[in-house]
Amino acid sequence: MSELLEKARNYEKVAIDKIPNSERPAFHFSNPVGWMNDPNGFSEYKGEHHLFFQYYPYATHWDSMHWGHAKSKDFIQWDYLPAALAPDQKYDNFGVFSGSALEDGDKQVLIYTGVEEETLENGEKKTAQNQCIAVGDGINFEKYTVNPVITSDLLPEGSSREDFRDPKMWKENDRYYVVAGSRSEDGSGQIALFYSDDLENWKLGNILDRSENKLGKMWECPDFFPIEDKQVLLISPQEMDAVELEFHNGNNTAFLIGEYDRKKMQFTRKAVQNVDYGLDFYAPQTMLTEDGRRVMIGWMQSWDNSMYPADQLWSGMMTIPRELSLKEGRVYQMPVRELENYRKNAVSYTDVCIKEETALSGMEGRMIDMMLDIKGKEYGKCRIKLASDGKLYSEIIYDREDGILTFDRTHSGHRRDTISTRSMNVKSKNDVLRLRILVDRYSVEIFVNDGEQVMTSLIYTPVTAGGIAFSSNGRTYMNITKYDIEVEA
Ligand code: FRU
Repeated sequence: MSELLEKARNYEKVAIDKIPNSERPAFHFSNPVGWMNDPNGFSEYKGEHHLFFQYYPYATHWDSMHWGHAKSKDFIQWDYLPAALAPDQKYDNFGVFSGSALEDGDKQVLIYTGVEEETLENGEKKTAQNQCIAVGDGINFEKYTVNPVITSDLLPEGSSREDFRDPKMWKENDRYYVVAGSRSEDGSGQIALFYSDDLENWKLGNILDRSENKLGKMWECPDFFPIEDKQVLLISPQEMDAVELEFHNGNNTAFLIGEYDRKKMQFTRKAVQNVDYGLDFYAPQTMLTEDGRRVMIGWMQSWDNSMYPADQLWSGMMTIPRELSLKEGRVYQMPVRELENYRKNAVSYTDVCIKEETALSGMEGRMIDMMLDIKGKEYGKCRIKLASDGKLYSEIIYDREDGILTFDRTHSGHRRDTISTRSMNVKSKNDVLRLRILVDRYSVEIFVNDGEQVMTSLIYTPVTAGGIAFSSNGRTYMNITKYDIEVEA
């Protein structure tokens, strides 16, 4: 093991005991210590779900990237494993960037972006990004001596050499495939598909899709998978322009939904769908479970607008893993069904009429799974306050007349001038808007209409603020069921 990896493993082993579980989310993954960004290597290995992640153990800000590692039997309770990779080679001296994993026989194969930094004679620094392999047994990994195996000279003429990253790998009929993000000669994102029969020798198959400066600049963290009779290219574009309420400025994530001709390795995009409308969601990755579910996990934080307490020893949470399905051409997302095994203490109300601000008996908590049908036409707006202590709260506002759902964390207790509200267009069905709301101490995920849309945001309100209140400027009828989520520490 390299010195750098050993140092990281020793550090995290000691540091982790300093962070009480009660200060972490209960049913969402958070990193052992330090900084975490993208999920990496989300995949099955020997009957368990593995999750790797972009990781800097030594401080709560981004720095020289390692891969952290954890595993779970049910996507809810995770066991930390020792850090998997460190930037300990010449070709990855600037960082072991994002990538993916694959169970291959009894081996666990990782593919990641090695970022090499070189100092030129004039003192300027230059970086290059290439794709590298490491093979292991679920704990320890050995980097290939022939790394990097997919180099940027395989890309079409004019493509960027500095921005070429985030390989997502799968195997089909004994052949390995990888999609990776890069920039074409027009400076904007493109996704390249590569294939290999031995993991060492790779060829460019095709360019699957391009931004052409319409969907942001660099396209990061691609994934490519079938869903029903369609194919989805999942991308995380940078530097996008806002498009009404569909996309916001900066980093977004999108499902490009289309058709895939396997023989010609040709993808034809038919539709673009925002993945998540909240304040804190980026760089998602999917895996296929042994029982055939396509499950996606995302980084629950934002680059431009990241917020977390300065004294916290860790920074980074993942979303609840979400099962994907296709309905009427849209990708739907719902929390993995395993979460339901942790539901306790059901509290239900049927057809409760909400007028002025109302706290309903039993409706409270900071680790909850709550289902709501918001019904009727006799109101303009209704509001749900969460994580409230009277002074501090975060709010979900449904403007029925305009068909807009807003999340607002202005009063959540964060004293920095960060972006605090985001809105999306929603459609009620027969005057019912259906919400499922997960709150896990510091996060709020809102699933609308059985997963048609999702809105994910962080709140760092003290956990003692657990009140929930409902209000309406007319009469709103609601069916509400709330469960506590209890996960043994
Ligand atoms: C996305 C990203 C990836 C890169 C990684 C570096 O958030 O920028 O493109 O591999 O983070 O940590």
